[in-house]
Amino acid sequence: MFSCPVDQGVVLKLLQPHHSEALFAVIDQNRQHLQTWMPWVDNSQSSEDTRKFIELSLQLLAEAKGLACGIWFDDTVIGSIGLTIDKMNRWGEIGYWLSPNHQGKGVMTKSCRCMMAYAFEELKLNRLVIQAAVENHRSRAIAERLGFVQEGIARQSVWARDRYLDLVTYSLLAEEWKQMS
Ligand SMILES: CC(C)(COP(=O)(O)OP(=O)(O)OC[C@H]1O[C@@H](n2cnc3c(N)ncnc32)[C@H](O)[C@@H]1OP(=O)(O)O)[C@@H](O)C(=O)NCCC(=O)NCCS
Repeated sequence: MFSCPVDQGVVLKLLQPHHSEALFAVIDQNRQHLQTWMPWVDNSQSSEDTRKFIELSLQLLAEAKGLACGIWFDDTVIGSIGLTIDKMNRWGEIGYWLSPNHQGKGVMTKSCRCMMAYAFEELKLNRLVIQAAVENHRSRAIAERLGFVQEGIARQSVWARDRYLDLVTYSLLAEEWKQMS
């Protein structure tokens, strides 16, 4: 079972169906904050929706196509980080969100490092991608802090409630990760 210590009291754990209620509660409490950048939040209206998401991610894990983790601080879930994998081309995309109470402490940057180590060193992926809306400065700062290289901007790529978002794509290659480690 995937589990990765991140920092004092912070750990990544594979999401399982019995986490649905706790995870949904964090999403629901922080709906306003999260839905600005993540359109799926509008479709997450009950713990049953969260359960379906977790079950789907476990199915993808069984097919080696992805991994969805909760981020725990002590015994409380405070966010999530996931990896979707293109097996044939050996690349993956990292996505994440955090409860605003836990922002500003480096939790997500460190969680991404754990996921990067797993992706490059265990799964032997060749390329990792992070995509963020152009105006999502906190998310872009994570990619930049981690040494990802900006590749370009996909214009009007995502419909978020009432507007299209332009997405910046960042990538890091296995050879660049090796040089950093
Ligand atoms: C994107 C998101 C996860 C960023 O959260 P965050 O707290 O800014 O990111 P981190 O946890 O990496 O913390 C970085 C902050 O901690 C500080 N920090 C403290 N110790 C640190 C450490 N050891 N390492 C890195 N940063 C550290 C950094 O200086 C930075 O602070 P600043 O923003 O005041 O400059 C969060 O804003 C969020 O969930 N947003 C809504 C959902 C979303 O946008 N998801 C991404 C879609 S692409």
